[in-house]
Amino acid sequence: KDSLCFPRPHPLWNLLLLLWTLLNCGLGGSAQGPGEWTPWGSWSRCSSSCGQGLSVRSRRCIRFPREERCWGDTHEYRLCQLPDCPPGAMPFRDLQCALYNGHPVLGPQKTYQWVPFYGAPAPNQCDLNCLAVGHAFYHSFGRVLDGTPCSWGSQGLCVAGRCLNAGCDGLMGSGAREDHCGRCGGTNDSCLFVQRVFRDTGAFAGYWNVTLIPEGARHIYAAHRSRNHLALIGGDGRYVLNGNGEVSPSGTYEAAGTRVVYTRAAGPEETLRAAGPTSQDLLLQVLLQEPNPGIEFEFWLPRERYGPFQEQAQALGWSLRQPQPLEGEPQSLEPQEALAAFPTRTPKPTPDPCPPCPDTRGRAHRLLHYCGSDFVFRARVLGHLRQAQETRYEVRVQLVYKNRSPLQSLEYVWAPGRCPCPPMALHREYLLAAQRLVNPDGTQDRLLLPHAGYARPWSPAEDSRVRLAARHCPV
Ligand SMILES: *[C@@H]1O[C@H](CO)[C@@H](O)[C@H](O)[C@H]1NC(C)=O
Ligand SMILES: *[C@@H]1O[C@H](CO)[C@@H](O)[C@H](O)[C@H]1NC(C)=O
Repeated sequence: KDSLCFPRPHPLWNLLLLLWTLLNCGLGGSAQGPGEWTPWGSWSRCSSSCGQGLSVRSRRCIRFPREERCWGDTHEYRLCQLPDCPPGAMPFRDLQCALYNGHPVLGPQKTYQWVPFYGAPAPNQCDLNCLAVGHAFYHSFGRVLDGTPCSWGSQGLCVAGRCLNAGCDGLMGSGAREDHCGRCGGTNDSCLFVQRVFRDTGAFAGYWNVTLIPEGARHIYAAHRSRNHLALIGGDGRYVLNGNGEVSPSGTYEAAGTRVVYTRAAGPEETLRAAGPTSQDLLLQVLLQEPNPGIEFEFWLPRERYGPFQEQAQALGWSLRQPQPLEGEPQSLEPQEALAAFPTRTPKPTPDPCPPCPDTRGRAHRLLHYCGSDFVFRARVLGHLRQAQETRYEVRVQLVYKNRSPLQSLEYVWAPGRCPCPPMALHREYLLAAQRLVNPDGTQDRLLLPHAGYARPWSPAEDSRVRLAARHCPV
């Protein structure tokens, strides 16, 4: 598309452009490719006088005989929203049918009263099909006018005989959608996705804080499968649902300027959803009646709210690296210990015997994991929690050989499966190499001990071997 011999100015007058072009390039030249659009004209007035309507603007394609047509549309339609029509006002389509009332449209003698007819076979919603009142026939008067609703209750409007919906940019048929951050046509990059599983087992029946859901959150979702109940506290400190030990029915609740849809299925399953954005902080809790098998929750948070949220969560002990045990009181609540505090009993599944682990001895293995890991440290195992998908070790960090970011004195280390390899025993000390697992959006931060990774009982000999390994990593 470099066929013209000068950079084209924005043409104000097509004629001027044409003249100029001819003067500079000679007649027509060897122009090829598409022509060029004039700038858009201004938007027309709204097509309707009340309710929804359309506004249109147009542009023209300037091209030489050899040039192709311009790419794109000559017209652009925009939704316009005027105050609602007064009750009893005649709908636009009815009006278009009624225009033919009393006119001899089907022969010189006969005239009819016309009302919209929606039952035509293979109907095009944008055809003006009208029924002759009191007669068993309808007639198609061609297309409806632009801006006519496609059908009852639909969002779509007819544009040049096609049913189109407005995108979030207001343009008909643009297909523009709001992203999960609420930006029209955005790519989800102005907010962060927070997704976690609240796994605190809970040592007693009652309300437990699950998470703060900060103001501005969107696409909120929480779910669990147990006889426990999700509870929600609004910005005013009052329960929105399942408060004060009373169970609320499934339904829609208003909270923080959004609608919270709460469903409790017949089975032991509860979900909570809200589109947001929320106008206040919400506090999600769980009313425990049996040990918590895990509560999934997620929401999208404006970027600027994420930092404060994380700080607040940490201050409240809900660190985003899965719950940090409090210094000084290492809790290694095994499910059955927690259970003792509950009035109801659930049978504890008997653990499967673990298959033997692969052999992970040797220098090569140590080097591989030392050099490839984010953290190498010596730690004592204070507790572990086996779950179906993963095992969580609670460890006290004693000596750090290598780290990418600071380690806390108490950390959780996660290993895949309920039979991790190599296994670590309670109250023993290990030298271990862990990966840091962070979601691209920074919302999940965990120490992971990979399967067949490096975790060897601590000994002075292993200590010096690890120090030696440090010198052999490729830079
Ligand atoms: C934003 O995220 C949602 C949920 O993951 C996804 O369905 C959607 O396609 C994403 N939108 C864009 C524009 O990437
Ligand atoms: C739960 O969080 C609220 C709000 O931050 C706090 O006031 C309350 O003490 C917490 N409750 C528990 C049991 O931690």
